[in-house]
Amino acid sequence: MSFGWCPCFYVWLFLLLFSRLQVSCKVSAPSHLQAIAGQPFMIGCNITIGTGQSLSQVRWLDARDRTILSYLADEPAKATESKRVELATFHSHTSAIRIKKAATQDEGCYRCIFDVYPTGQQEGRTCLSVLARVVLEGNKTVVSGKDATLTCHYALAEKAEQVLWKKTAEQGDTTTVASYIKQDHVPRVEDPFRGHVTLSRSLNRTQLYLRPVSTEDEGCYTCEFHTYPEGSISATACLSVYVLPKPEVTHVIVSPGVVEVNCTAVSRPASRISWNVEGDNDTMGPSVSSYFEQGDGTTMVVSSILVQERLLVDKTVVCRAHHQGLKAAVSVAVNKVKRSHIILVIMMFIVAVLLLCLCVCVNKRSPC
Ligand SMILES: *[C@@H]1O[C@H](CO)[C@@H](O)[C@H](O)[C@H]1NC(C)=O
Ligand SMILES: *[C@@H]1O[C@H](CO)[C@@H](O)[C@H](O)[C@H]1NC(C)=O
Ligand SMILES: *[C@@H]1O[C@H](CO)[C@@H](O)[C@H](O)[C@H]1NC(C)=O
Ligand SMILES: *[C@@H]1O[C@H](CO)[C@@H](O)[C@H](O)[C@H]1NC(C)=O
Ligand SMILES: *[C@@H]1O[C@H](CO)[C@@H](O)[C@H](O)[C@H]1NC(C)=O
Repeated sequence: MSFGWCPCFYVWLFLLLFSRLQVSCKVSAPSHLQAIAGQPFMIGCNITIGTGQSLSQVRWLDARDRTILSYLADEPAKATESKRVELATFHSHTSAIRIKKAATQDEGCYRCIFDVYPTGQQEGRTCLSVLARVVLEGNKTVVSGKDATLTCHYALAEKAEQVLWKKTAEQGDTTTVASYIKQDHVPRVEDPFRGHVTLSRSLNRTQLYLRPVSTEDEGCYTCEFHTYPEGSISATACLSVYVLPKPEVTHVIVSPGVVEVNCTAVSRPASRISWNVEGDNDTMGPSVSSYFEQGDGTTMVVSSILVQERLLVDKTVVCRAHHQGLKAAVSVAVNKVKRSHIILVIMMFIVAVLLLCLCVCVNKRSPC
């Protein structure tokens, strides 16, 4: 019984020394970090060094236990580095390395090893995983009948097993448009889209081609990568489809001297119609506009205006269709036909007069 305190004392002494050692010389490093593919990345370790201890050398090892960087504590400027890694920070208590461009092969656990005298080697360990975002080029507007390409990038294509392209229509229902699975080598396009949709055979830069675009293609598209082990990641962008207006004019005489002129423009989205008198900047008015939704997603706008009949003889009245898909408004003249008619009449008159003159002259020279 009298020796009972003895083992307890040694245990206590051991714990005391051990904890002192722990406190006096300790490496702290984050256990896990995430880097973004293609971007520089830093990993750092801090060390607390007690009195009577000194740091002689620092080494950094990669996941395969290769030394990627090392330096003597008093000569950090002479650090030996590899092509992709450089020394970012160094002090007596901290050391950090910078990976210039994070890539999948940089994944794994890194170790910082501090040679401390007289304690010995102290090390910290940080495991790095590399992530990448999926980037789908921004929202697009395409004119109906033209071709459109949606491009989606994923920097870690080697982690992806497949890519899916999905479409969410205005009503909110989502359907799969096309998919590409690495082992299949041939992209698959779903039934309703077959014919005018094709998909590229690539995972890092996947492209969905819509040839040609119709108003039914409007909606938001998502490219979704199924990756291992991260799971699925995606990006979305929306496609708007324009139908450009081709305005047409019609007119009828509604009462003596007064003409009703209509200008009709079918487009998506609806056009705005204005009326101008040639040469004048003033818009004419008042006009009445009616809107008719067409079954194919376009809107027909009919603008009606009443004008004096003689205005159509003297001046050119123009209907202008303004649309966000057009840099300048499309114009159509109401009385163009009338003008060319007048010109035609004048020309015919001149020809007739000339013929008459000719006839008279010929007759005078050789009287029949
Ligand atoms: C190391 O110390 C610095 C300040 O000197 C601090 O900003 C950093 O977060 C520390 N890192 C770790 C891994 O403890
Ligand atoms: C793309 O369009 C959608 C819907 O029209 C909108 O919610 C989103 O903010 C737009 N994104 C950009 C980057 O303009
Ligand atoms: C995409 O991946 C292929 C191999 O799968 C590679 O040859 C090509 O260089 C990569 N392209 C880009 C832009 O990363
Ligand atoms: C002009 O449009 C109105 C409304 O759509 C219609 O009632 C009228 O018959 C049209 N007139 C002409 C000349 O087309
Ligand atoms: C028409 O009016 C606008 C401003 O309302 C002016 O900027 C433009 O120069 C005018 N054009 C003509 C041909 O007078």
